[in-house]
Amino acid sequence: MTRMDAFRSRVKGFAFGGDYNPEQWEPAVWREDVRLMREAGVNAVSLGVFAWASLEPEPGKYTFGWLDEVMDLLHDNGVSVNLATPTAAPPVWLTHLHPEVFPIREDGQPFGFGNRLHYDPSSPIYREYAANITTKLAERYSFHPALAMWHISNEYGPTAYNEAAAVNFRRWLRRKYGDLDALNEAWTTRFWGQIYTDWDQIDVPHIPRTWMNPTRRLDFKRFTSDALLECYIAERDIVRSFRDDIPVMTNFMRFFRHADYWKWAPEEDAAALDIYPNPAEADSHVSAAFNYDLFRSLKGGQPWMLMEQSSSAVSQWKLNVVKEPGRMRLGSLAAMARGADSVMFFQWRASRGGQERFHSAMVPHSGPDSRTFREITDLGRELELLAPVAGTTSRSEIAILFDWDGWWGLEEVFGLPRNDFSYTDTVMRHYTPLWERHYPVDVVSAASALESYKVLVVPNAYLIDDEGVRRITEFARNGGTVLMSFFSGVVDGDNRVRPNGYPGAFRELIGAKIDEYWPARPHEEFAVDFADGRRASATWWREDLHLETGTALAAYADGLLAGRAAVVENRYGAGRVVYVATLLEQAAFDALVAETVEAAGVRRHFEGVPAHVECSVRGDDAYEYVFLLNHSGELGASVPVGGEGTDLLTGEAVSGQVELEPLGAAVIRLARA
Ligand code: GAL
Repeated sequence: MTRMDAFRSRVKGFAFGGDYNPEQWEPAVWREDVRLMREAGVNAVSLGVFAWASLEPEPGKYTFGWLDEVMDLLHDNGVSVNLATPTAAPPVWLTHLHPEVFPIREDGQPFGFGNRLHYDPSSPIYREYAANITTKLAERYSFHPALAMWHISNEYGPTAYNEAAAVNFRRWLRRKYGDLDALNEAWTTRFWGQIYTDWDQIDVPHIPRTWMNPTRRLDFKRFTSDALLECYIAERDIVRSFRDDIPVMTNFMRFFRHADYWKWAPEEDAAALDIYPNPAEADSHVSAAFNYDLFRSLKGGQPWMLMEQSSSAVSQWKLNVVKEPGRMRLGSLAAMARGADSVMFFQWRASRGGQERFHSAMVPHSGPDSRTFREITDLGRELELLAPVAGTTSRSEIAILFDWDGWWGLEEVFGLPRNDFSYTDTVMRHYTPLWERHYPVDVVSAASALESYKVLVVPNAYLIDDEGVRRITEFARNGGTVLMSFFSGVVDGDNRVRPNGYPGAFRELIGAKIDEYWPARPHEEFAVDFADGRRASATWWREDLHLETGTALAAYADGLLAGRAAVVENRYGAGRVVYVATLLEQAAFDALVAETVEAAGVRRHFEGVPAHVECSVRGDDAYEYVFLLNHSGELGASVPVGGEGTDLLTGEAVSGQVELEPLGAAVIRLARA
């Protein structure tokens, strides 16, 4: 039994609850809290996330009494605790005693006190104090009956340009390169005469006069992610040293560029996500779905934890609209549909003051007699009905590459043919047509195993290391279909242009050589003719592409590249490669994605279901659980389900067809044939 299996059986299915911050309230409120938690069906809370100053008000002076009482109270009321190490919020006394823990920004200025995450992850002093409070907590609570999980720190993220960071960066570089010649070679320091002759000459990349050496910058991103990970591992190992059977995790963020979650996930018992899809954006549930697929994939398809979301509005943007009635439920089910084994919120009770006083909560300012609390209570009841779904997994024949190195390569440095790439927008452009057609999709890194997939989608993989290239190439050779978009395979892991012409790594794979990249001028538009007679428009990017073994699926109909291929098809080994060398208008691109996936023989689970109904399947050996979620607030939908089953939300038998109201949902249990 894994640690997560034990956790699931402890909470009897899905974990349901949120961040609980009792240090902001009087004990009388705690008693009301647990009463309401029972009413709502809450079975887990994340406790003490920012409570360092309340637990250690002076260096070495501890006030655990209140936490003892809260832990006992929660346990007595059947609520399990995901106990946080409070190290995301160093107390003000620490920053006074040791101002050097404050992270220095890229421009050389330190951050001030007043928020959180104000630490340099490389600071030995920060690490020492963090280890100390972690040890104290573990000593005291490792065997408390309420303890069910460790929540290490919170949303690791600060980038620091401190002296301690420079020391740690040099150590990291020495380990990576061994000797300075290798570093100079990888960083191409002969360009602009930047050759290093002593390790001590290497500093963190403060803002230079103009552009930064791109590989130094890239290595600093990799280093920062690793430095943060060192902090996580240090605290994890402390709590593990007391007790080894409790799951340990930290909470990640949606589309967060500054930590390579592929490297982090193996160090955790479960990947956990905090996500706040903006209710003001009509398609925020689609990018949420991508993040859910990513989080399921981070640990090879294992269920993940939805660690934070909002019950209604947040307070972090200029305009914070509410989640309209029914949307919080639907969003929660959408996460579960894609593998979440928990529905947790920030936070349990709305704070009266502080920066997030207008952030919604499970118990809002208007109290339990409120729309929000009623919806929370209803959801709690539904999660109990869905308990058998917890722990189940899903399968997919399509994978999409999402890789932090690739992201940093495109967005962290200047000096590309164009410097306005948005990696996440590109990824979403490729993912959305698959989501709309209800295809299950896994997310992979450049180091992931690919054998189990039929189709691999590769969006703008500008920077990819040799191992990634090898995996993708082999995947195609062995019969896979690769759908790749432009400006891929250009540089190696050191951000150096691959030899023998673009797209260095993938020239054979795509069956074409690219003479030059031709970014489009603003407002420039080109006509593209497909071999079957369709015409589409293209913008933003073109490539002066010369076919070798590939053939044109579409060619430019006008402009200086008229007649040149815009979309290439290449047979490679037993596989097929479709390379899209321009930014096709969305409808044409969507059609191309759909055709490519169909031609690869990917099974379509849901045909004829409108795009506004999200369809996703989890299952185990005995059952499939089909989630049908209508994201439209106006349109109903009629969805065919293959066979006879039971809607777990209503308990009713279902056969053939399911009718969904606007914002309606069904979770159909079908016995496996
Ligand atoms: C998260 C964070 C929470 C809370 C929430 C709402 O990023 O972990 O502490 O701030 O956002 O904004």
